[in-house]
Amino acid sequence: MLWSKSLETGINLIDEQHKELFRQVDILLDQSNENRHKEALIFLDKYIQKHFSDEQKMQADSKYPKTVQHKKFHDDYVIVFRKLKEKYLKEGPSPANNMEINKTVVGWLKDHILVHDREFATYYKSLK
Ligand SMILES: [Fe+2]
Repeated sequence: MLWSKSLETGINLIDEQHKELFRQVDILLDQSNENRHKEALIFLDKYIQKHFSDEQKMQADSKYPKTVQHKKFHDDYVIVFRKLKEKYLKEGPSPANNMEINKTVVGWLKDHILVHDREFATYYKSLK
């Protein structure tokens, strides 16, 4: 699976949701499973929303100083993801689309988790 321990934030709910996101991305990148791609994209679309809103709620509730800035990253990403989803649903799998998923979904998630979610996790855990 694409998720690895190095992506752990130490906040259980967030880590479990991140793992689920990566499980779905694994399905998307599995070429032997193309009939499940559409379903995975639709699931991801909904699950990304849920995950972002849970994370934003934790940030607001804990008075994280970067709550607004972090939400902006999420909002921008939803737009990017939706575009990719529409394109993929129309065109189906192809090496080019798989590359885009790798870059746009996997790349973004990893960068976002390693920098911004980690930063929040450090703050959140320091409150306990
Ligand atoms: Fe986030």
